[in-house]
Amino acid sequence: MTGDFTEETATEAVIDSFARTEDPRLREILASFTRHLHGFVRDVEPTQAEWEAAIGFLTAVGAMCDEKRQEFILLSDVMGVSMLVDAINNRTPAGTTESTVLGPFHVVTSPQRELGDDLADVSEGERVLVRGRVLSLDGEPIARAQVDVWHADADGFYDVQKDDTPDQDLRGLFTTDAEGRFWFRTVLPSHYPIPDDGPVGDLLRRTSRHPYRPAHIHLIAGAAGHRPITTHLFIEGSPYLDDDTVFGVKQSLIRPVTVEGDGKAIDFDVTLA
Ligand SMILES: [Fe+2]
Repeated sequence: MTGDFTEETATEAVIDSFARTEDPRLREILASFTRHLHGFVRDVEPTQAEWEAAIGFLTAVGAMCDEKRQEFILLSDVMGVSMLVDAINNRTPAGTTESTVLGPFHVVTSPQRELGDDLADVSEGERVLVRGRVLSLDGEPIARAQVDVWHADADGFYDVQKDDTPDQDLRGLFTTDAEGRFWFRTVLPSHYPIPDDGPVGDLLRRTSRHPYRPAHIHLIAGAAGHRPITTHLFIEGSPYLDDDTVFGVKQSLIRPVTVEGDGKAIDFDVTLA
């Protein structure tokens, strides 16, 4: 570097400092990150105290993380970054099931379960039958597809958030039958607040945002020769379908709960590219 590091030369100086990065993708990412980060600082012109507050916030986000609590995913979610990355990476053909965020609670390997099993090992609440098929784009059923499912309980909590609940409750990994079908019983999940007792919750309160997500069941579906999909089944009529704090709702993923005899059911087919 020749000359002083000044407001005028700062950005190019830092980009130049990464010029010998061997991995071209990493070099490109660092150059872009430098440009945008410096652009942000030039735009905001933070005081020293504001910059220290920003570093304090990120430090608190990191300190909140452990193997069951992922505050950085929550931050990414409430900033809309998770959904933007998801959209960029899932420009799939029309007709395939739309994707949405993974979320921070897929931290436990789902137990293998048999078709028809009940996901609620210990959770109590109103029972529902969830059933669907995994299909290819031409409408053909996909046998032996994998469907990984997890969701919150009737009070809006995941197993990993509760000390008294085994970490496999309301989770299951299913294999579709010869007609591509999967079905299971479970309790109807509630809408819920994302964990808001950390710095991301502070951010939401400071900005008059609420922490809620509409009621949903998470799914990852995949099959040999097909592109796997991470998505949700959203429950029609749930509060916050129009105002999900992580921006995850897609209208095509909302399904009604139907009454069948003395029970309830939800139908949700998944189409893979
Ligand atoms: Fe969730």
